Amino acid sequence: MTETPSQTTSVSGLLAEIARIGTDSARGGYSRPVYSAAELELREWFTASARQRSLEIEEDRNGIIWAWWNPSGLPLADAVVTGSHLDSVPGGGAFDGPLGVASALAAIDALQAADLRPTRPLALAVFPEEEGSRYGLACLGSQLMTGAVTPERAAALVDADGTTFADLAARNGLDPRGIGRDDERLSQIGCFVELHVEQGRGLIDQGRAIAIGSSILGHGRWRLSFSGQGNHAGTTLMNGRRDPMLAAAASVLDVRRLGRAVEGARATVGKLDPIPGGSNVIASRVDVWLDVRHEDDAVVAALVTDIAAAAREHAAAEGCAVTLTEASMSPRVDFHPGLRGRLSTILPDAPILPTGAGHDAGVLKEEIPTAMLFVRNPTGISHSPDEYVEDPDADAGGHALATVLADLITY
Ligand code: GLV
Ligand code: MN
Ligand code: MN
Ligand code: MN
Repeated sequence: MTETPSQTTSVSGLLAEIARIGTDSARGGYSRPVYSAAELELREWFTASARQRSLEIEEDRNGIIWAWWNPSGLPLADAVVTGSHLDSVPGGGAFDGPLGVASALAAIDALQAADLRPTRPLALAVFPEEEGSRYGLACLGSQLMTGAVTPERAAALVDADGTTFADLAARNGLDPRGIGRDDERLSQIGCFVELHVEQGRGLIDQGRAIAIGSSILGHGRWRLSFSGQGNHAGTTLMNGRRDPMLAAAASVLDVRRLGRAVEGARATVGKLDPIPGGSNVIASRVDVWLDVRHEDDAVVAALVTDIAAAAREHAAAEGCAVTLTEASMSPRVDFHPGLRGRLSTILPDAPILPTGAGHDAGVLKEEIPTAMLFVRNPTGISHSPDEYVEDPDADAGGHALATVLADLITY
């Protein structure tokens, strides 16, 4: 095994460089939707940081940024790739995404300072719209690259302001006709290792700083759209209303009831859009966003079917109608056994943990061997300003990543 490169750059120091970008005073934490001013500033920061390290930067036709380190001038094939994302959920933490990107930069510093003879090129990648906070479809960049989402579907996605993804992409220098499966890029990549803040309590419980990922729960998002009769809150008597908010509220309670009845399931409503959304208006429509996860994809499907049946009953009871639309479904992922095993050899003390959170590494797994490293989060909380990583754990993560990459690029 290759000698462990010594760490030269502090991961928390890199994160401090971007700490002011995209703070959200209303929600707390960070709101960094894809192609917002904040996310664009983070991309600039990343490319400037990569340039400082003499990496060669390319933004591909799906908006994924690649920063290549290929000191031996090898052909771009069988490359080792690491990286993550810089977009966030609304009011998210500082680490979900940026920790993987900052750790990749710190790892490059360690690799460049070490006396290595890479036999494989290395790339740092930053994926757009991982959270799906803007267009409702998580891991949009990687799903476009693999063809899991068609260019037609992606182009037609509309954000809350009515901007299509095609228009947004064009405004940001992409050709909307060029998005989609990227065989050339995929043929260059040999494996992908994503480092990420842990989003649960696994490492706290084990008293360890770093884990290796085993699997991702099957997970998806659906929209339940309840429609009724919009009307005046003051002039419409309580009897005879067709208020979709009531059907939505009853259905949200059933999401919990039905989710609790299934061992290992997670069922969440975290977003609800009343239309038109006025405090003195009976809504004409309420969109309820449902997130369902389980290790067995068939259980996810069955639970969504049951929730939809309950929603139909609640809609009928209120004189309303409801439709169910799938926004995305990511099947369960088991990371590549060979690559995972290699990571375990390199990091023999790291426990193996599953996760309930989705990642670009899960999408890419369909095409190339992928693996993940998780870094302890002492709050166990994520998708919240309370997400946290202690500085020494962040550095331990950067060091673990550098060690893994040193091995893979000289393997
Ligand atoms: C993304 O982080 C997700 O798991 O929803
Ligand atoms: Mn993430
Ligand atoms: Mn996330
Ligand atoms: Mn994620």
